[in-house]
Amino acid sequence: MIVCSCNVLSDRAVRACLHRGPDCPRTPAQVQACLGCSPKCGRCARTIRGILQNALDEAAHACTATCASSCSLVKVQTAEEGIAA
Ligand code: FES
Repeated sequence: MIVCSCNVLSDRAVRACLHRGPDCPRTPAQVQACLGCSPKCGRCARTIRGILQNALDEAAHACTATCASSCSLVKVQTAEEGIAA
């Protein structure tokens, strides 16, 4: 499904650029930069943010306490909750 009509990005492409590690995109703009484009109208930001959140939820279930301490996806989740990462 196309989630960003300006840049013709699919939900699959967005998910594919999410990976664990320090260079994982944390915002919709970073996702677009990772995919070689940039935000234009911004209508897709909420949808891309939702895909990021789903990735966080999956990571939270898949991570052990040990790996969660170094996972950038977990750090995004805590930053959005207002907890210092
Ligand atoms: S729909 Fe993504 S920038 Fe316009």
